[in-house]
Amino acid sequence: MAKIKSLDELKKLREKLQNKVELREKGENVDDLVQIKIAMATCGIAAGAKDTMDAFIGKLNEKNIKNAVITQTGCMGYCHSEPTVEITLPGKEAVVFGNVDADKTEEIIEKYIKNGELVDGIIPVGYTTIEEEK
Ligand code: FES
Repeated sequence: MAKIKSLDELKKLREKLQNKVELREKGENVDDLVQIKIAMATCGIAAGAKDTMDAFIGKLNEKNIKNAVITQTGCMGYCHSEPTVEITLPGKEAVVFGNVDADKTEEIIEKYIKNGELVDGIIPVGYTTIEEEK
């Protein structure tokens, strides 16, 4: 990055950065999207989480579902049921699905993501968030 040599340059840089922040804030609100978090701890990867992620990416594209974001997350504590996937539909509580192999992604997309219908394989959540503790 070039050195800032004057107060004027500093002001310009500040303006530029503020514009970027504003854009990000006004950008797509993640609460309006289907959020798909794939657990990618060592146990998840060993159980095939990479294939699960590829399957979600491929099938969401194929089905032209554009309101979904896929992220990877670390250990969720469900070693016994890897690959695990947490899905949050807009305005709903997050749901964790266990043993999500590439085939299972099809059922989850068709039934849960498209229609909000529950499917087998949901893991009861055994934790509370800080907000819930208040
Ligand atoms: S190490 Fe397996 S879920 Fe954390």
